[in-house]
Amino acid sequence: MLTHRPLDTYSENGFAYSGDALTAAEVALLSAATDTEFGRDSPARTVEKDGETVRAVHGCHLVNDLFARVVRHPKLLGPAVEVLGGPVYVHQFKINAKRAVHGDVWPWHQDYIFWNRRDGMREPRAVNVAVLLDAATPVNGPLLVVPGSHRVGTLDLRERDAGLGWRSNLAADLDYRIDGPLLAELARGREIVQVTGHSGAVVLFDPQLVHASGANMSPHDRRMILVTYNRTDNLPDAVASPRPEFLAGTDYRPLEPWQGDLDN
Ligand code: SIN
Ligand code: MN
Repeated sequence: MLTHRPLDTYSENGFAYSGDALTAAEVALLSAATDTEFGRDSPARTVEKDGETVRAVHGCHLVNDLFARVVRHPKLLGPAVEVLGGPVYVHQFKINAKRAVHGDVWPWHQDYIFWNRRDGMREPRAVNVAVLLDAATPVNGPLLVVPGSHRVGTLDLRERDAGLGWRSNLAADLDYRIDGPLLAELARGREIVQVTGHSGAVVLFDPQLVHASGANMSPHDRRMILVTYNRTDNLPDAVASPRPEFLAGTDYRPLEPWQGDLDN
């Protein structure tokens, strides 16, 4: 009998829900740890243009045992290995805050161009695994994606230089943005989709998928963990100015899933 598996649509659409969500207890643990990381004064933490609202924190798996465990969680690592077809390590880890009322936009972009041009990643043989810490709804700035757009490959975009170095790519002011006319071309015949879901949902998306998110005008946070796994046979080439470890991981050992609870 033919059965439809949740990841079956990944290669066609460039994103898919894994179908195997984290439990409410796991989300509660991760939420508490997220508060700790949002409160930690560190260069890995970025704020919105207002200068105070936390926008994102990178590299939490390097400094926090719970996040070090979550990147080996079978519900994250399992689907990552499944779609990439081989062993992986963490290239990047972040928690995007998208705070109630103050959470700002992410312009339209593809991720791989940053990892290729900034970090020397050779091929787009990586995957983003997102975990919704809060429900993502139509009104709290959910991720927006153009289904199938990953199949256009890496767009040859001109670099905008905001003069902020690697910091610009953590702000609403990305170096490699997709402008309106190009978006219109990419979205022709494809309907833009909101990646909504309940807290704990796990969503995978391709590094070349065209995506963005709007401002959060609602009174509800939309926090989301994003783990970028890269294949261990796709290690980056050396680059002239490597970004900090919290943006471009250099622990290339293949990850093994653990069994058991997140909290022990
Ligand atoms: C991103 O591209 O990493 C931003 C996604 C989001 O949090 O909306
Ligand atoms: Mn992105």
